[in-house]
Amino acid sequence: MASITLDKVGKIYAGGTRAVGDVNIDIADGEFIVLVGPSGCGKSTLLRMVAGLESISEGTVRIGDRVVNDIEPADRDIAMVFQNYALYPHMSVRQNLAYGLKNRGTPKPEIERRVAEAAEILQIGPFLDRKPRALSGGQRQRVAMGRAIVREPAAFLFDEPLSNLDAKLRVTMRLEIKELQRRLRTTSIYVTHDQLEAMTLADRLVVLNAGRIEQIGTPLEVYRKPASTFVASFIGSPAMNLISSTALPHLPGVAHAGTIGIRPEDLTVSATGPILMDVLAVEELGAQRLVHGQTGGERLTVTLSSNAELSDSLRLDYRPGSLHLFTAGEGRRID
Ligand SMILES: Nc1ncnc2c1ncn2[C@@H]1O[C@H](COP(=O)(O)OP(=O)(O)OP(=O)(O)O)[C@@H](O)[C@H]1O
Ligand SMILES: [Mg+2]
Repeated sequence: MASITLDKVGKIYAGGTRAVGDVNIDIADGEFIVLVGPSGCGKSTLLRMVAGLESISEGTVRIGDRVVNDIEPADRDIAMVFQNYALYPHMSVRQNLAYGLKNRGTPKPEIERRVAEAAEILQIGPFLDRKPRALSGGQRQRVAMGRAIVREPAAFLFDEPLSNLDAKLRVTMRLEIKELQRRLRTTSIYVTHDQLEAMTLADRLVVLNAGRIEQIGTPLEVYRKPASTFVASFIGSPAMNLISSTALPHLPGVAHAGTIGIRPEDLTVSATGPILMDVLAVEELGAQRLVHGQTGGERLTVTLSSNAELSDSLRLDYRPGSLHLFTAGEGRRID
């Protein structure tokens, strides 16, 4: 196991496209880091630079004490799990698990020990002699993780490993990955564009926007104190309401802000509330309902209990201390 350090890392692709710039991350030994951000923000590029599948244009990547910029992928002591698990279709599960070790000349008893151990951890023992086509999607994904586990690497790198699975299975597998990482304590970097997956898996999140880090923090730090309007709108579902302060000039303390942020769950119905919202649409979620409307010409969403009474307009208050203020130009947090 090992720490991973990214120091001023950047990537400029042939043709001059900058995909990543000035990325600094110190990942502790055993930590679970999630890189999260919208499509095209540079998540895979960053991960592939750590893996050695892309050259590093700027800065240094260290795994443990070793600078790996010029070290071949096979010699970096990492194992990667991709979205398309790419199992060998003509090999049994057992052969799929053993293949990489065999290629490295690992002694046979050692291969058998590691395959048995991975099968035990992932509960795929009963499928060891089946071909991948005779497995469900979730079972295949487990085999793909098994191939990473048998390597006993210093770090796991995951690139959207669950995006081929249906919604329910994603939730199950998400938990399995989390438990697995807790158990093995292997340093992990996990890439996803799904903020909920990021929140639930990460020890710390790295929120990326256009190749740059917007914020690094624990899921709750990032949720409670988003550093920018970008992070505020990306982390949390339903997304934080971001409203021009000119639309709510009467709220106390907002004089210097360009944008006011209020999470839908921090708004409450109150006869004396300072915000009057015209209701436009209601979405029922079961225990809760999302009420969408507008105030001062700006869109607003409120999370209410499904028992709450509805009308064409609602007077709203917000929980004390729940306002987020951001600068007008760059949308940086004001504290
Ligand atoms: N081989 C390449 N040559 C030139 N530009 C590339 C190359 N690969 C990726 N890019 C560009 O680099 C940027 C980052 O791409 P990357 O694949 O890292 O994004 P991502 O965050 O993983 O997105 P997604 O969520 O869609 O997978 C994008 O603008 C992309 O078009
Ligand atoms: Mg990607």
